[in-house]
Amino acid sequence: MKVLKIALLGFGTVGEGVYRTIQSHGVRLEEVLGKKVEVVAVLVRDKEKARNISKDLLLTTDFDEILNIPQLDIVMEAIVEKEPGFTYLKKAIQKGCHVITANKEMFAHHGKELLELAEQHYVSVGFEATVAGGVPIIQTLRQLLNVNRINKIQGILNGTSNFILSEMREKKQSFADALHLAQEKGYAENDPSNDVEGTDAFYKLVILSKIAFGQQLDWSDINVAGITKITSELVEEAEELGLRFKHIASVEQENGKLKGSVKPILVGRSHPFYHIEGVENAVNVEGDIVGSITLQGPGAGMFPTASAMLEDLGQLSKISKQYDSKSFSVKTNKETRRAAEYWLICNVKKKLLHPAIENVERLKNGTSIINADEKVVEKVREQYPGMEYFKIIGGYNEINRSGSTSLTATL
Ligand code: NAP
Ligand code: HSE
Repeated sequence: MKVLKIALLGFGTVGEGVYRTIQSHGVRLEEVLGKKVEVVAVLVRDKEKARNISKDLLLTTDFDEILNIPQLDIVMEAIVEKEPGFTYLKKAIQKGCHVITANKEMFAHHGKELLELAEQHYVSVGFEATVAGGVPIIQTLRQLLNVNRINKIQGILNGTSNFILSEMREKKQSFADALHLAQEKGYAENDPSNDVEGTDAFYKLVILSKIAFGQQLDWSDINVAGITKITSELVEEAEELGLRFKHIASVEQENGKLKGSVKPILVGRSHPFYHIEGVENAVNVEGDIVGSITLQGPGAGMFPTASAMLEDLGQLSKISKQYDSKSFSVKTNKETRRAAEYWLICNVKKKLLHPAIENVERLKNGTSIINADEKVVEKVREQYPGMEYFKIIGGYNEINRSGSTSLTATL
């Protein structure tokens, strides 16, 4: 029986997870692929590190040694940053190898070039692991939602941020301790500022929007905010209001142009993201036929990410090369969207004044809830230096705030 030869680039959390799962699931992979799967080489940065790895395979720091392996079939990449991963995968494709990557930073920047190059060389590119860990959102968008027009995608796309927010709320952990734990568990990026400042979720949004809308997000147009301003006090205050902070990336098309955001949002109990806790991710897709679908599951970590890469491996013969081809105009439904927007406003001790604010509910410690358009909120912030604001979605009022019916937030 022919052996499918694999080279693994990277043997950190993800690379080791892929290696161990290929060992533990060899029989199943053989059933699915009709071939025995063998990891023949591993590329790392530091060859001297102790690793639980077979002595029979090639362990190297030199990518040329990998390229020289005769009849190499697949290169699976799980290293960090745009380079050298991009160059390595280009060379692998030019050599005729299929490639599978978990590297969202590299893929958000260079995915299009890799897919075009792969098409020229009749090989496939798997990138399921670049977004939402083990949640099969890429295959869902690429293979299963071809007739639907996608109106909007919103997701909790960073496991580390969601984990930190959950730890702060449920266990009263400090931000720093929760981040440390996320690093220990292998959820956080090499540079964890990518997680907590929103960049990682932004890269994932770029990848999703390219598939769903066939267009590149205008990077300079998007305000990317992370969770670094969410204090334990804010988390507690939100909890008292029956709300939870979630870091949400969203994108939709308006008048042919993509509009996206990456920021912390306050979510009420009726929203599908309210109960997404810990390292879980969730992605909500609005299609014009199906309506709203939410996929959720583990968003980071060794085995969920390995699962996504191995499902790409299982799909290898079927992976289509249509990353660019799903560009259709998207219907927007202005009536159903955003009839009213509600916001939690913080750090404003004075009376909030603006003619376009319809309603103000003053809470405590300079916190209020207002009903206004986002542009108005931005204008208001110009008047109140130091003001922070968080959008509320998912109906906070009807759930926890007994007695008061003056404000009702909607999705
Ligand atoms: P990691 O634990 O830091 O491991 C990175 C691996 O890449 C290490 O084995 C390192 O070698 C190797 N490496 C780094 N730079 C290299 C270079 N220039 N040449 C050769 N090897 C190099 O990272 P990770 O968490 O596994 O993440 C890997 C990739 O998957 C990243 O792009 C990340 O964004 C993505 N990802 C991670 C997760 C997750 O849950 N962790 C989930 C989805 C996607 P040494 O071992 O010698 O240092
Ligand atoms: N650091 C990423 C996260 C890994 O926490 O979501 C998964 O992409």
